[in-house]
Amino acid sequence: MIENKRQKIMLVDDNKANLTIGKSILSEYYDVFALSSADKLFEFLKHVIPDLILLDIDMPGMNGYETLTILKADKQYADIPVIFVTAKASEADECDGLDLGAIDYVVKPFSPALLLKRIENHLLFQKQKASLQDYNENLIKMVKEKTHQLYSLQNAIISNIAELVEFRDVVTGRHISRTQKYLKKLAEQLIEDGVYADEILIWDMNVILLSSQLHDIGKIAISDNILNKAGVLTEEEKEIMRTHTKKGVEVIEKMEHASDLTGFLEYAKLFAGTHHEKWDGSGYPNGLSGEEIPLEGRIMAIADVYDALISERPYKKSYTAQESAQIIIDGGGTHFDPALIDTFSKVKDDFAAIAVEYAD
Ligand code: C2E
Ligand code: SIN
Ligand code: SIN
Ligand code: SIN
Ligand code: FE
Repeated sequence: MIENKRQKIMLVDDNKANLTIGKSILSEYYDVFALSSADKLFEFLKHVIPDLILLDIDMPGMNGYETLTILKADKQYADIPVIFVTAKASEADECDGLDLGAIDYVVKPFSPALLLKRIENHLLFQKQKASLQDYNENLIKMVKEKTHQLYSLQNAIISNIAELVEFRDVVTGRHISRTQKYLKKLAEQLIEDGVYADEILIWDMNVILLSSQLHDIGKIAISDNILNKAGVLTEEEKEIMRTHTKKGVEVIEKMEHASDLTGFLEYAKLFAGTHHEKWDGSGYPNGLSGEEIPLEGRIMAIADVYDALISERPYKKSYTAQESAQIIIDGGGTHFDPALIDTFSKVKDDFAAIAVEYAD
């Protein structure tokens, strides 16, 4: 940036000779305002904010220390750098001035070259400080914008990936969207009922719902003839079908290595990896049981199976809402976490309404 505006210095001294000398030294480089008392300084500050003040200490009326104290107490003036100018050379005086917030201390009579150099250094320092602050503020703004953009992009990509899986698996239709709604409903009711409420309250529900969409991402790796088979799977085909959980975790781990979205993908891995575990330990892929199964997986199991039951599949007809709910309730303690079942019973009509509203 080209700085073509001269910087302003206020010179405050009761001694007219000093004002004249100071002004002559500084005027070549700065706009100098020579003021013969603190009162005049404060009057002038109402109209002009200088870049720096050279302040005499010994003055009749208000002295330099008092003046500086008032300047520092006023938000409007506190940031103006002040250099004390005095005939006193003792260390103690210097300390007093610096303690009050002066940035430097110049003893009279000063060498013009030294005075100019010091002023120049301080003004440069102030300018750097200001531009660093601007830079930081810009950076914060930029990071906020970028974060928002990335968040939107992440949302879009995840929804699209999930949709791709959904389209390929012709039978599941709007299964993913419905599953999100069931999850949300169940989680809200669990909080209300005080069931696992502490854990659920910690969840960022947006992140949970977004990541839940990837629970069946592993079906990408399952061949069409198994995925869309119009009948009951053989034992061997079932075995292959069950790999969709581990494949899902692998796919998400690959995403993890390629990005920094760890928190979000951590949930996605839990959903993909544990939604087919069963409370009694008979599920897959790891045969986890009870609370070994992450709560995310235990809740998803209810949402996922409910939707499989109430929907038509190539291998099965659809059950009614009542039949579907009853199968879930009967599965409490074997397939599902029994602590979740009472709450499920309360929201089963909401589940049924979601199934109707988002029917294929
Ligand atoms: P999906 O169709 O979304 O079913 C998810 C889960 O819902 C099933 O997990 C199972 O726990 C439950 N479920 C589905 N239908 C019924 C049912 O009629 N009765 C009961 N009690 N539970 C049911 P599962 O069995 O591990 O299957 C995972 C996925 O494998 C299924 O997802 C589906 O895509 C596929 N699959 C399972 N069995 C067959 C089959 O016989 N034929 C075909 N074509 N696909 C199957
Ligand atoms: C200082 O050393 O910082 C102030 C005293 C002087 O100007 O010599
Ligand atoms: C100086 O003028 O002594 C250098 C800049 C500063 O630290 O204020
Ligand atoms: C300070 O007060 O931190 C020093 C500022 C300066 O030397 O310009
Ligand atoms: Fe699944």
